[in-house]
Amino acid sequence: MFVHFGQGHHTMQEPQYISESSDASGWSGRFAEPVAEIVKRYTASVGFDRRLAEFDIAGSLAHARMLHAVGILSAADLGAIEQGMARIQDEIRSGGFHWSVDLEDVHMNIEHRLTELAGDAGKRLHTARSRNDQVATDVRLYLRAAIDELLALLRRLQHVLLDQAEINAETVMPGFTHLQVAQPVSFGHHLLAYVEMLKRDAGRLADCRRRANRLPLGAAALAGTSYPIDRVQVAHALGFDGVCENSLDAVSDRDFAIEFCAAAALIMTHLSRLSEELILWMNPRFGFIRLPDRFCTGSSIMPQKKNPDIPELVRGKTGRVNGHLVALLTLMKSQPLAYNKDNQEDKEPLFDTVDTLRDTLAIYAEMMAGLAVDRDAMRRAAMQGFATATDLADYLVKKGMPFRDAHEVVARAVRFGEEQERDLSVLTLDELRAFSPLIGDDVFAVLSLDGSLASRDHIGGAAPAQVRQAAARLRQELAADG
Ligand code: ARG
Repeated sequence: MFVHFGQGHHTMQEPQYISESSDASGWSGRFAEPVAEIVKRYTASVGFDRRLAEFDIAGSLAHARMLHAVGILSAADLGAIEQGMARIQDEIRSGGFHWSVDLEDVHMNIEHRLTELAGDAGKRLHTARSRNDQVATDVRLYLRAAIDELLALLRRLQHVLLDQAEINAETVMPGFTHLQVAQPVSFGHHLLAYVEMLKRDAGRLADCRRRANRLPLGAAALAGTSYPIDRVQVAHALGFDGVCENSLDAVSDRDFAIEFCAAAALIMTHLSRLSEELILWMNPRFGFIRLPDRFCTGSSIMPQKKNPDIPELVRGKTGRVNGHLVALLTLMKSQPLAYNKDNQEDKEPLFDTVDTLRDTLAIYAEMMAGLAVDRDAMRRAAMQGFATATDLADYLVKKGMPFRDAHEVVARAVRFGEEQERDLSVLTLDELRAFSPLIGDDVFAVLSLDGSLASRDHIGGAAPAQVRQAAARLRQELAADG
């Protein structure tokens, strides 16, 4: 029992009597006064880390079973812990669990309730363990499950894009560089570029999962434990591929969270680029696509408006996810080994990244599945801007002209076409021959949009046949991974 008289002895303030039993936190005996209310709020993480509950319970059960297997915990105690945890699981799922800020975080809330339910057995659970290795384990388990879910969503989006790509293998559109008409491509080819990006994204997530999938438990606070624990058993029970091999690293490492956020930021960046394109293509000046109405909103003042809110929000939320990556990098950059309370700040950015990415991927797949393409508008746009000029230069080179000369000849032809407001493909043979006598009537095959497209017939090229083959390869790869 310790008596604290507050700030001034001369005030009428009641002295506060603190006993170990009245302090709900786990370290009461060492402390002379209770934690200030504002400190309690400031340090508490239960408001957000409660979403780790199911992983915390799984980790605790694996730990308890191991403690029993090596003779540290009796069968009766293990039974009481298992029963208590089953009950807690139910309470949490049904919403009946009482979460308390006084108990700071998810770990102490659950342990406290377990002790209410299981008595001394509950108090024995924390043998050979610290919250430091506990929380590191929980977050890894959480992230592993999140990655599995996100990978499935990523695959769904890839499938949708593949469907659209196959349907549009021959849908000619202008390919752009510098956002100026460059050469004809197909809409299918364009979409496959995004499938490639998402394929790398999936690889990054899988790679991150591999490195995250190691067990920190056993590291205890930072130095390991003197109990004869069996870390491999726990790792196996929790589906980890192995154990973290340095106790200091085990409790302090958050690379997996950073790697994940980096991968997530890149996924968002890819979708943000596509969003930017959708927004442009939906503008009547392009008029290439229509998004399903259920993914658009109107304006409260301008009755004619249909706005691409979803792509705009994806573009905006990319900033948010990029921010989380920077937050985590900054969180880690000055931390000495091993665990520091700073690490509690890893959760909100990580959780929000998962939530944002999950919703974005789900909504994007639906939106892209409902995308309507205006093929005529795309073709018309490809007819403007002399998209087949390079084809004419290549044609001349194949007839023996050096490329630089051909470039010059075509530049002059384009200038002529521009003055006339006519595409190269609609100039007459005589008009074309005025620029080079090498030009014959076989030139029209290469000047047409479809001829130009079909001629890029190699792996990675825009020819419709190649687009179909690429889509088939990507489908096979998807099937092999899943
Ligand atoms: N809530 C804490 C966190 O998220 C758990 C670990 C606390 N460990 C400690 N030594 N204070 O990091």
